[in-house]
Amino acid sequence: MREAGRARGGDGGTPEGPPGKPRERLVIAIDGPVGAGKSTMARRLARALGIVHIDSGAMYRAMGWKAMQAGVELSDHAALASLAERTEIRVIPGDPSFCLLVDGEDVTGRLRTPAVDRAASLVSTCPAVRERLVALQRAMAREGGVVMDGRDIGTVVFPHADLKFFLEADLEVRAARRWQDLQRAGAGLGVAEVREEVARRDARDSGREMSPLRAAEDALRIDTTGVAPDEVLARMLAAVERCAENSKR
Ligand code: DC
Repeated sequence: MREAGRARGGDGGTPEGPPGKPRERLVIAIDGPVGAGKSTMARRLARALGIVHIDSGAMYRAMGWKAMQAGVELSDHAALASLAERTEIRVIPGDPSFCLLVDGEDVTGRLRTPAVDRAASLVSTCPAVRERLVALQRAMAREGGVVMDGRDIGTVVFPHADLKFFLEADLEVRAARRWQDLQRAGAGLGVAEVREEVARRDARDSGREMSPLRAAEDALRIDTTGVAPDEVLARMLAAVERCAENSKR
């Protein structure tokens, strides 16, 4: 499944991985709600440790995009199950950006629109879609170390991850970050509208029956409200170091 070389390079990271488990074998889960900074921090942490980053949300976005293209009703779980079965999703990790192929077509640049935001959140409530994507996510980590971000990575996908983080931030801050992303993507939405959609996605992601968004009991929670990414990265790397110390004992 993994097709590209691992992202490597310095981002102020630790030169050596934790003794006991080589850093290239570490499995690190990062979960949290929309706009908490998961993808940015997952990418930076992966770069600092020289391992691959996989954004699991992009896989749900790809399924949401595919369902829209196929004209499948987003609440029709039977139709989504059948679509998931016959759709091939491939992630090609890369730094600074991965590449996402749906049935061989590169859709990476089409996944960050308000319509896909909503579609991804809806299709992610379908158990068959989740089962399919979780199997792919586990297969990708089987080959080696990974930093994977999402909603259920520490609770469902990798309950035995070496390290788990749960990022959170105030709704206002998260909505503002999402608004900025959308501005960059050319969507002319107002902040209030984006805030409402973020709140709706929070409710859907946390309230769904299967694998709802929640922090694993053993996750390190980091509130990123007003905290610079460099500082968040420093806290994460300190946790990697503590993990290394513990594994020595
Ligand atoms: O992280 P994101 O906003 O790109 O995720 C898009 C949607 O996919 C989000 O509304 C919730 C869903 N998702 C999920 O259910 N489980 C994951 N591991 C990742 C994302």
